[in-house]
Amino acid sequence: MQSIIQQLEEKRARARLGGGQNRIDSQHAKGKLTARERIDVLLDQNTFEEYDMFVEHDCSDFGMDAQKVPGDGVVTGHGEINGRPVFVYSQDFTVFGGSLSAAHARKICKVMDQAMKVGAPVIGLNDSGGARIQEGVASLAGYADVFQRNVLASGVVPQISAIMGPCAGGAVYSPSMTDFIFMVRDSSYMFVTGPDVVKTVTNEVVTAEELGGAITHTTTSGVADKAYENDIEALRQLRRFVGFIPSSNREKAPRRPTHDPFDRQEMSLDSLAPSNPNKPYDMKELIHKIVDEGEFFETQPDYAGNILTGFGRFNGEPVGIVANQPLVLAGCLDIASAVKGARFVRFCDAFNIPLVTLVDVPGFLPGTAQEYGGIIKHGAKLLYAYAEATVPKITIITRKAYGGAYDVMASKHLRGDINYAWPTAEIAVMGPKGAVEIIFRADKDDPGKLAEREQEYREKFANPFVAGSLGFLDDVIMPHNTRRRICKGLKLLANKKLENPWKKHGNIPL
Ligand code: HXC
Repeated sequence: MQSIIQQLEEKRARARLGGGQNRIDSQHAKGKLTARERIDVLLDQNTFEEYDMFVEHDCSDFGMDAQKVPGDGVVTGHGEINGRPVFVYSQDFTVFGGSLSAAHARKICKVMDQAMKVGAPVIGLNDSGGARIQEGVASLAGYADVFQRNVLASGVVPQISAIMGPCAGGAVYSPSMTDFIFMVRDSSYMFVTGPDVVKTVTNEVVTAEELGGAITHTTTSGVADKAYENDIEALRQLRRFVGFIPSSNREKAPRRPTHDPFDRQEMSLDSLAPSNPNKPYDMKELIHKIVDEGEFFETQPDYAGNILTGFGRFNGEPVGIVANQPLVLAGCLDIASAVKGARFVRFCDAFNIPLVTLVDVPGFLPGTAQEYGGIIKHGAKLLYAYAEATVPKITIITRKAYGGAYDVMASKHLRGDINYAWPTAEIAVMGPKGAVEIIFRADKDDPGKLAEREQEYREKFANPFVAGSLGFLDDVIMPHNTRRRICKGLKLLANKKLENPWKKHGNIPL
């Protein structure tokens, strides 16, 4: 008995040492934490219960039988974040570069399977060189097993990825199928093939940072949601983020008690939207002023800034917020913003998170770049996402709601539950100038007459009353009452029941 306990302790000590002190030192020298240190920062103290600490790979090629490390490069198990259970895997770069062997994959699959049974999020802390090269097809099979589970878990339990080191090949495809991806600046990379392969195949010379660093993926590709300065900041923000989402699709997101009065009036909002429709304003100011304690967890803050997405709370209840941002491209919808918005709406709908939509949109962005890029198909993603969403939907039109974009942004016609407008709202097929140039083309050489027509059009449509008279708006509200009206609406809609017709699955325009 004593010797078994001693062996156990020795094995545990070996597992904890991963790839050895030198490699741990090298990890620290790069400003990175080890796999276990990351778990310590992520989870509530003393809640981590580890699985499969003694699992070893079963490869004997290339001298691998002499190189076995208990745990095989990934630390797995479950713990709690603010008292709520989560499953976690944390790849250990000190063991074969965190690469995925068949055994390593089985460990990840085990926590994913448990998470599905229990109904708890899966958080992956990724730091991996991809498929373990020495294992060949066995490691590819392991990845496919993980991918299959990513897909089955999608929409059932939240899946969150933190990219905390160089991730290549399969190590990026699994995160790409999870709901949110957080990266660390200057130490994490995501690419299908690294700079050396790129140079060989395309002759492009590019650094790892340029090819797949946190800046690239949060500003240019839109693959990742947020970038943080270091491991600790990323993990702390991940903890904060988990507070906005439910543990599974069977639950609602957790309420958090608040001292912020639900009927707080914000008088400054009455002058937020300038009367000159060509003057922009910051939609983020509106969001911060209406959510509980001004707390807004923005997703993809550095990508497609013409649409804002993120989480806030009203009277303690988490909601997803989608808003046009007049400060960027005048708030137009384009390919990137439509895709960003659509994915966010679908996440909220899958996980019972109500949607609050703030609208100031002059339409879809015109031009060959957008048309050739497929704005028709990509714009339809946002339309589709809103139309299929059955969660409570509250929409506030603050100023412009023009054209197809009016329809798309959670309008009454797409089963918006509560649709309000501020008195500054303008709801029409297009802006007055464009409209008269088309319908009064005969007057094109008479600027005086055109100006008169434009004024006539503006008087007719540059207000919320036509839409209101048709029942497309439920009320015109004073901006300072926006928070109160949203809080009351969410309370009313708390037990909303709406189901889409049965189908195997829809066919969103991908
Ligand atoms: C086995 C690996 C490995 C791998 C790294 N290592 N990647 N071992 N399989 N895939 C080992 C290295 O041999 C080294 O071992 C240690 O991990 C650290 O690696 P370094 O190269 O020294 O580190 P660094 O310079 O930081 O570079 C990290 C890296 C690089 C960018 C990840 O190692 C790399 O490019 N690795 C290969 C990436 C790749 O092509 N993977 C296969 C993708 S294909 P020692 O003993 O020296 O410490 C794939 C298929 C799935 O994943 C596709 C599904 C769709």
